[in-house]
Amino acid sequence: MAAALAHIHACCFDKPWSAVEFQTLLKLPTSVVVAETKGFLLASHVLDELEILTFCVLPEARRQGIGRRLLDNMLHEAAGQDVKTVFLEVRADNIPAITLYRGMGFYDNGRRPGYYTTPQGRVDAVCLRYDF
Ligand SMILES: CC(C)(COP(=O)(O)OP(=O)(O)OC[C@H]1O[C@@H](n2cnc3c(N)ncnc32)[C@H](O)[C@@H]1OP(=O)(O)O)[C@@H](O)C(=O)NCCC(=O)NCCS
Repeated sequence: MAAALAHIHACCFDKPWSAVEFQTLLKLPTSVVVAETKGFLLASHVLDELEILTFCVLPEARRQGIGRRLLDNMLHEAAGQDVKTVFLEVRADNIPAITLYRGMGFYDNGRRPGYYTTPQGRVDAVCLRYDF
């Protein structure tokens, strides 16, 4: 599982997480993963809060509804485990992800200026929140 997640992650992000890092995360009792062959979502569940740690779909498989399905499945799973709030941070220039999250009912919950370092310079993080 860890190797498969690392492969998808490496196809989607400039700074990919290694299979060893995924293996470590997957062992944590707080980790929740929803995965398909072409994408996955990894979150951390503590008490009544869930934090989305990473979420991606292979570039060639995007705009086919996989991302929405993964997020929807995660929200259903979270609701069944008495989660009250979901949090995440996303790059302010990540229009696909922000559009998807807002379309699923997430709303703005602050901004972290210059949070991400990119080859083009610092980019703000948008903090999003979903309430059940
Ligand atoms: C964000 C991501 C997971 C979306 O996955 P996906 O499978 O393409 O998403 P879906 O096909 O389910 O799209 C659902 C909705 O999101 C929005 N959306 C997705 N891609 C979009 C794009 N390129 N531009 C604008 N809106 C977009 C649309 O509202 C879309 O609905 P529609 O296709 O009916 O218009 C994918 O783009 C990805 O892996 N990006 C790189 C990694 C990343 O940024 N992860 C998020 C970090 S927080």
